[in-house]
Amino acid sequence: MRIHSKGYNCEVESDNAFIVADLGEIYRQHLRWQTHLPRIKPFYAVKCNTDPMLLKLLIALETGFDCASKTEIQTLLDLGVDPSNIIYANPCKQGSFIRFAAEHDVKMMTFDNAEELHKIKRFFPNAQLVIRILTDDSKAIVKLSAKFGASLDNTGFLLQTARELGLNVIGVSFHVGSGCYDENAYVDAINRARFVFDQAVELGFNFHLLDVGGGFSYSHKSDVITFEKIASVLGPAVDKCFPSNNIRVIAEPGRYYAASAFTIATHIIARRIVRRDLDEHVPNMDVVQDETTLVAGDDHPSFMYYINDGLYGTFNCILYDHQIVTPKILMKGGKFLFGKTLDEPEYNCFIWGPTCDSIDCITKNGSLPELLPGDWLYFEEMGAYTISASTKFNGFRRSRIIYTTTDPHVLAILDDS
Ligand SMILES: Cc1ncc(COP(=O)(O)O)c(C=O)c1O
Repeated sequence: MRIHSKGYNCEVESDNAFIVADLGEIYRQHLRWQTHLPRIKPFYAVKCNTDPMLLKLLIALETGFDCASKTEIQTLLDLGVDPSNIIYANPCKQGSFIRFAAEHDVKMMTFDNAEELHKIKRFFPNAQLVIRILTDDSKAIVKLSAKFGASLDNTGFLLQTARELGLNVIGVSFHVGSGCYDENAYVDAINRARFVFDQAVELGFNFHLLDVGGGFSYSHKSDVITFEKIASVLGPAVDKCFPSNNIRVIAEPGRYYAASAFTIATHIIARRIVRRDLDEHVPNMDVVQDETTLVAGDDHPSFMYYINDGLYGTFNCILYDHQIVTPKILMKGGKFLFGKTLDEPEYNCFIWGPTCDSIDCITKNGSLPELLPGDWLYFEEMGAYTISASTKFNGFRRSRIIYTTTDPHVLAILDDS
């Protein structure tokens, strides 16, 4: 009985999980954006992935940035971003963070409630305010409207309050929810934004900024919503409702830029063979001591693989971002199999992360050929809401990032910046 994959060795750190970041993919996403939404300037949502090379490339590509906190603002200022290219897009801010934004001339910031207006009056009366409105986020994986956004019943009152406080409101923002799968949500939100622009005119404001938020799909797959599909309705809706070129239009894409550029490779550090009793519930699974029992009866063999990154690390997206991840084989028996499918029987498997916590489960529905400790798995599209919320729980290090580019232009762009 073989208990380790061929080619398995344990040289110091050689079996650590690692992430490959393809800067070329980020560049291609940027070109795709410019092709389909040329009027809308992207302000990348930094919270999605704060990787320094990703930020440097986007700075070189002259995007703006959406920041949620003082630390994110500081990171970008340290990288040389002009404060006018930052929007502080968190409607509920800590007072001292507003003061920090004032000290560093980061003027654009969102609000959606009257208390925030009073706070801003106190700490940054010259801020350029953007009213965040409520949207229908029922067609999004991550819903945000329960937490943020002024309803259209309330926008009049908020604008009136801003007027009385002598504050400068310059436009409207919205977010249709992250992972939006219905392009019509954007059209509906644009119509709502138009309504608030008209309200603002009546109150004597001169609005000139429309921020269409995030939620953009990065996918090219026609069975799910594509960026092109969203752009094909959003672009015309913006032009129809906001025909004047005096209206500056920005967006806050996060997932769109970060998701597809990052792939994680993980090592199978252990496995257990189990006999399934047809009940998916783990505690009812019978751990088999001897492989020969596997073939007995009608039992379907299953494996439990333990890998060296998990829910407390990069795979936190399963918990926080409702993601379903797909394992693929990178190395089996010492053979490199990236992008290949194996003509071997597949078995149901569970994949667990490395911590001692049983919530640390990556999938209970894996289907893979039989693997051994020492083999490697990879998971694609791991760039959004992964690394940025990863912890070191149980003493495990965050997976290292290795950079590459599948587009040679990136090197020249970075060199010139
Ligand atoms: C205010 C704001 N803008 C932009 C984003 C980015 O959204 P996405 O990654 O869906 O593009 C988020 C995500 O939560 C957000 O809260």
